[in-house]
Amino acid sequence: MEYKIRNFKIIVEETADAWGKQSAAWIVKQLHENPASKIGFATGGTPVAAYKELIELYNEGKLDFSRMITFNLDEYYPIRRDNNQSYYYFMQENLFSHINVNPDNVHIPNGEATDIAEECVQYEKQLEAAGYLDLQILGIGPNGHIAFNEPDDHFEPNTHHTTLDKKTIEANARFFNSIDEVPTHAVTMGIQSIMASKKILLLANSASKSEVLESTVFGKITPQLPASVLQLHHDVTMVLTADCADGILAHIR
Ligand code: PGA
Repeated sequence: MEYKIRNFKIIVEETADAWGKQSAAWIVKQLHENPASKIGFATGGTPVAAYKELIELYNEGKLDFSRMITFNLDEYYPIRRDNNQSYYYFMQENLFSHINVNPDNVHIPNGEATDIAEECVQYEKQLEAAGYLDLQILGIGPNGHIAFNEPDDHFEPNTHHTTLDKKTIEANARFFNSIDEVPTHAVTMGIQSIMASKKILLLANSASKSEVLESTVFGKITPQLPASVLQLHHDVTMVLTADCADGILAHIR
């Protein structure tokens, strides 16, 4: 089902399989319109099924990534690329090593940078030089973060070094042996870096996101719930599973 609610296009899928296909379809559409599209990629548990679908389409000869330009939203800091928890590693494992993306076109914040302030400046410069993104893929944290823009008293516009919120560390602990291993800091694109994207695709597929999605769409716009800023973007599509769309759809039933 497809809904237009406030400024959001909201697509709700009943099964995990349909959700993965629908999510990938928006990325495919972008690449078909322009094979040299600049696409912002997200990590985490959410987009994995969508990336699997992209790999399948590539293997079937239906997609060409050779001209695609990519920028990732964030990276833990400090972290080595070869650490299997780094987002560099995640992207290789879950997408890039399976498709014909040109490694020269891939941008991921450098978790190994010695001068992190300089790394942030350079990453934002690269985004700016590219003219920002055509399509930004986003997940959403249980605390309403987008990328690692954590709840705060202000919106941080550009790529920056940040301290992870307690809720983020708790949520990400499932990927580590223990919560003590979760990095406490990260580099992340800022709110302006994200909002500059021509289109935004927000993906969510877990019932635990229902409440925060409802606040994203209907709550007040506040840096305490960073995703709420998406109310100010003119082209946001959400692809949701039915369980996480419940909170939003309760408003129109
Ligand atoms: P998840 O993370 O996909 O692992 O739920 C999303 C996020 O924190 O943005």
